[in-house]
Amino acid sequence: MDLKKLVRKNILELKPYTSARDQYQDGILLDANENSFGSAADFMLENLNRYPDPQQKVLRKALSEYLKIEISKLMFGVGSDQIIDLVIRVFCEPGKSNVIIPSPTYGVFKVACNINDIEIQECELDSEFDIDVESIIQKINKRTKIIFLCSPNNPTGNSLNPKKILKLAEAFEGIIFIDEAYIEFSSEKSFLNYLKHYNNIIISRTFSKAWGMAAVRCGYCIADDFIIGLLFKVKDPYSINKLTEKTIIEALQKPWKKDELVSNILREKDRLILELRTVGCVDYIYPTDANFILAKIKNADAVFNYLNQKKIRVRIRKDNERIASCLRITVGNKFENDFLIKTLKELN
Ligand SMILES: Cc1ncc(COP(=O)(O)O)c(C=O)c1O
Repeated sequence: MDLKKLVRKNILELKPYTSARDQYQDGILLDANENSFGSAADFMLENLNRYPDPQQKVLRKALSEYLKIEISKLMFGVGSDQIIDLVIRVFCEPGKSNVIIPSPTYGVFKVACNINDIEIQECELDSEFDIDVESIIQKINKRTKIIFLCSPNNPTGNSLNPKKILKLAEAFEGIIFIDEAYIEFSSEKSFLNYLKHYNNIIISRTFSKAWGMAAVRCGYCIADDFIIGLLFKVKDPYSINKLTEKTIIEALQKPWKKDELVSNILREKDRLILELRTVGCVDYIYPTDANFILAKIKNADAVFNYLNQKKIRVRIRKDNERIASCLRITVGNKFENDFLIKTLKELN
């Protein structure tokens, strides 16, 4: 696909800001109005007085080795939420373009489009919360720039059928954005392997879930080199700070820690599902490939309020009728899950 045809003209022609650290990171650095005497936070890390690397070279190299993907296909964002916004800004003309968002899905897609004044065409997921390829294709028009997908999907927890995604990628002359925030919890394969064949697919991932680093605010995307170049043009120069860089590098050196967290969560998830099935107010538990469970609940509102009174916080989504009587429950640690089950059983 000729990606140039998909990009906003002003972005294609944009001369990006060149920051001081884009040009030099060594020598006597008198080019960025930094503090040449040091940093009030030098007990944390060296060189905090200097701006971080705008090209994210060290980080991208470490991730490239971990994923076995070329550096030129990777970019980090301040959470994967930032990547969603950047992708919209690169491809969508405010007030003119539209995107397709299957629903229910991750709420930030919609909010990011609204912030950017991009029309949203919602399209219901099918009865199993999978994509309905035909109904999506029917919605595509000349102004459609992006189809947002999330697999495993938040808040339903299921993975989308890869064959259906491929069908869409074949049929659509635009960007397919696949949010894989929960992929590490899934036994389904990532879409990474298909990137070679489809240059219009962008995959986003995060360190906030399986890696347990939500406070760090770091996500990344994997896409065609040309798309990565455009995202670098548009992002703020120094988006990833040095504390984040150091933390992520350390985590990437010990991926088994992430694997251990994932297997602990999956073990607790199985147990939580078994326990929830014995709870009176739980009608149905949807299949889940993520670190959360979507459960259909009798009197969901009342149960939600009851849990809140007990200071147990779960999510209820009223914006989609099909899940309005469900609660989305993140798998907690053993203590948290035990407390949840005990509290729910007291309601019986
Ligand atoms: C599907 C999905 N994508 C992205 C995010 C946010 O990721 P990050 O913390 O990297 O911004 C979330 C958080 O809940 C999510 O559910």
